[in-house]
Amino acid sequence: MKKIGILTSGGDAPGMNAAIRAAVRSGIDRGMEVYGIRRGYEGLLDGEIEKMTWQSVGDILQRGGTILRTARSKRFMEAKWVDHGVRILETFGIEGVIVIGGDGSLAGGLELSKRGIPVMGLPGTIDNDLAYTEYTIGFDTAVNNVLEMISKIRDTSSSHERATVIEVMGRDCGDLALYAGLSGGADVILIPEVEVDMNEVCRRVIRGQNTGKAQSIIIKAEGVKMDATEMARFVEETTGREARAVVPGYIQRGGNPTEKDRRLASMSAAKAVELLYNDSSSKAIGIQNGKITAIDLAEALSVPREFKKEVYDLTEILSKAGRD
Ligand code: F6P
Repeated sequence: MKKIGILTSGGDAPGMNAAIRAAVRSGIDRGMEVYGIRRGYEGLLDGEIEKMTWQSVGDILQRGGTILRTARSKRFMEAKWVDHGVRILETFGIEGVIVIGGDGSLAGGLELSKRGIPVMGLPGTIDNDLAYTEYTIGFDTAVNNVLEMISKIRDTSSSHERATVIEVMGRDCGDLALYAGLSGGADVILIPEVEVDMNEVCRRVIRGQNTGKAQSIIIKAEGVKMDATEMARFVEETTGREARAVVPGYIQRGGNPTEKDRRLASMSAAKAVELLYNDSSSKAIGIQNGKITAIDLAEALSVPREFKKEVYDLTEILSKAGRD
């Protein structure tokens, strides 16, 4: 394969630029031409495609977001538009595509693949909701962003002796809340995988208060349907401890990628290029036990997500106040 395309799709994730850089440079190193497709599948359908050079991906490794821009394409969910996308790729002579994005984006790639275009899927999302891989590109940065927020919020919460509900992103996956809650020492972690018991949340806040804790940190995943402000109000009314809600939003998703995300992105992209160069069939690239993996794309998307029970159980033990 000589000509390949690369696109980023869905929510941006820190590390996408590192992946673009590695794909372009390792492609050029193999004597291939690498084309950047702007604005995800939307740009593909509109023919927004440009040849990339070694220099065009300079100075982006450390930047969050994606220089190719991204979009959530509704059009690409329809078969007629996927066919149109294939025609555009053929017009440009692009023989294979690297797609960086979450499950919806990789599912779009699978549609291209069914029409004869080999696709390499890279897991790019802060949600960590692709079960075929241990980590997705962007997750580590987002967890660390949330950790930093927890420390700052803790300062104010304890100064004012308050409870704070922090709503963390992740769509319907609780990993971001769970890992940030574990490492940030949250008193309560509420995730969509476990039924929420508001009375137990309040009991924990009261127990904390009774044992002299200056503040309580409640991490709530966005997939838990109760509104954060409503939750804070309920906690305040039930426990008597003043409560606030913080919804940090995109502050979790932006910023310089961590070393782990840059490495995962760079190594995954290089693997994708190697596979396309060797005319491999469509694959999803991931990581397992520190090693880059590549499995059949359709198979990867059908791996069921497992609840990380042992992590959750540990947070339950570590966060219980009032034990001696
Ligand atoms: O998939 C990443 C993510 O940030 C999710 O955690 C969140 O549910 C969603 O994107 C928000 O999407 P948007 O930025 O398009 O509103």
